[in-house]
Amino acid sequence: MKRILVVGAGGQIGTELVPHLQKLYGKDNVISADLKDEQVEKMRAFGVAEKLDATDAQGFAAAVKKYKVDAIFNLVALLSATGEKMPQVAWNINIGALLNSLNIAKEFGCSVFTPSSIGAFGTSTPHDMTPQDTIMRPNTIYGVCKVTGELLSDYYFTRFGVDTRSVRFPGIISNGALPGGGTTDYAVEVFYEIIKPGHHYTCEVPHDSYMDMMYMPDALKAVTDLMEADPAKLKHRNSFNIASMSFTPEILFEAIKKRIPDATFDYNVDPIKAAIADSWPNQMDDSCAREEWGWKPVWDMEAVIDDMLAACRRKAGL
Ligand code: SER
Repeated sequence: MKRILVVGAGGQIGTELVPHLQKLYGKDNVISADLKDEQVEKMRAFGVAEKLDATDAQGFAAAVKKYKVDAIFNLVALLSATGEKMPQVAWNINIGALLNSLNIAKEFGCSVFTPSSIGAFGTSTPHDMTPQDTIMRPNTIYGVCKVTGELLSDYYFTRFGVDTRSVRFPGIISNGALPGGGTTDYAVEVFYEIIKPGHHYTCEVPHDSYMDMMYMPDALKAVTDLMEADPAKLKHRNSFNIASMSFTPEILFEAIKKRIPDATFDYNVDPIKAAIADSWPNQMDDSCAREEWGWKPVWDMEAVIDDMLAACRRKAGL
């Protein structure tokens, strides 16, 4: 990878992936693209940025040509809970951006990274130590898009030789940009809320829903390690299970309470989020990622809590 275009760069992952890529590949070799003017303005302060609607094939191809891009990171997506409110829009955006990424990559000889997710699994998937290769019949439009994305990406690799690679991300915990419209968002929001006066958080996910989670630094390393992995060693491509920790809201909140004794929590369960959380794995088996490209996470839940509380307090000026 020499010249990278990140589409959907203004979101939770892109905001931190871009500086990570800039460090590894050089500031001028990473082009950030987003649909929203205010995001593009912000990104211009830190590097090269373009306003781009990734569902517009012509504009997308023009940016790839203009910057002589050889790797596309497609981060464009509506997340799971928002997707259920507008399934057709979710399909159009998630699949539109993906198909453009693949077709443009085929035309210009680029590699492609597109994240998949725990959301690619569904109720009929084995929930404990969810295998790499297993039943994938998701119950959400977000998941339907993710499975479609995995299949299309593998198809473009075997049929056209496009170098496509992907990981199935757990819920990502981070303190840069906030996520929005996801089922795992509670594990980020709680840190921003619990440091405020009152120290209270109301959770929309049931207290006993196990879901895989991951801290952003591990997620970023996963992306670049996979994209740099020796292709001869990859038996899988789209997409690898990666895991580092799994907990329920109750387990996370108990551990936060040890640091903030007067913290209080209650639940106002959103039935859509409850059904989604229930359909997703409790914990994925990531042994294929470990074997094929050396995946090894660093952060566990306790370390994440300390780091998130410190970062959120700093941001709030506390
Ligand atoms: N974080 C995503 C969501 O909750 C899952 O990939 O929708």
